Amino acid sequence: MQLLDGIAVSNQIKLELKNELIEWKAQGGKVPHLAAILVGNNPASEAYVGNKVKTCAELGFESTLLRFDTTITEFELLSEVEKLNLDDRVDGILVQLPLPSHISEDAVINAINPDKDVDGFHPISQGRMILGQPGFLPATPYGILLMLDHYQIDITGKHCVVVGRSNIVGKPMSVLLSRNANPGNATVTICHSKTADLKAYTLQADVLIAAIGRARFITEPMVKAGAIVIDVGINRVADTSKKSGFRLVGDVDFESVASKCSFITPVPKGVGPMTICGLMRNTLNAAKLKKVN
Ligand code: GUN
Repeated sequence: MQLLDGIAVSNQIKLELKNELIEWKAQGGKVPHLAAILVGNNPASEAYVGNKVKTCAELGFESTLLRFDTTITEFELLSEVEKLNLDDRVDGILVQLPLPSHISEDAVINAINPDKDVDGFHPISQGRMILGQPGFLPATPYGILLMLDHYQIDITGKHCVVVGRSNIVGKPMSVLLSRNANPGNATVTICHSKTADLKAYTLQADVLIAAIGRARFITEPMVKAGAIVIDVGINRVADTSKKSGFRLVGDVDFESVASKCSFITPVPKGVGPMTICGLMRNTLNAAKLKKVN
């Protein structure tokens, strides 16, 4: 069993991005600027956004964090997005999800200028991805592709089983794995909460992507010997031995599953850091592709 080390891979990619930025600036290119919107103070969202802002600084990108109370109306939030759309200093816009229930996430995502959609959630970005056209890929599936590529894991002709069908991970992941691209060309099955006899599918997986958001849901009897297991879950479970009172576990029961795999991502330090790489890659691309008036 080999661990897929998100920290090591992300450090390498960040170094590449840093060097690319130095070259880009030497040619007179603009420093990429990411604007992040955070509504409320959900602790997980705070941590994710904090990491994104910190990584921008590490790479030499500019960032702006706009924080709003949960009382913000949908109309007000849409006008904040529009301001960022019109702001030439801003290359990428990210609205951290989830949003409070009185705000339509679809309406907010649809309002982002697709040229600044570094999260790759806009229907235009998703459409381009499905059609294989250049565009912004959603950060987590993109990060997973970067990881497979780094370890030169060839998934051509392999059976990839994606558990979870979210717009952020499961759905785009299934599309990307099946694209005629590299990494890609896999045979993909997508499973979800209504799948009957889930184990019958997971046991067939050469590559198993767990993106269900349920702590340690995938257990040893559900995994084929020698499988490549990618754990997208970041779940908080109570742990009185920690100062915070919790620790993070994935959607995979790592203790029982790990020894059965050929490769597995740990949680934390697996997919999480790769997601940030996907976002940073998109943000640098957004700055480079910016339309100059
Ligand atoms: N919430 C959970 N994951 C993500 C992500 O990748 N981007 C945004 N904007 N919100 C999220």
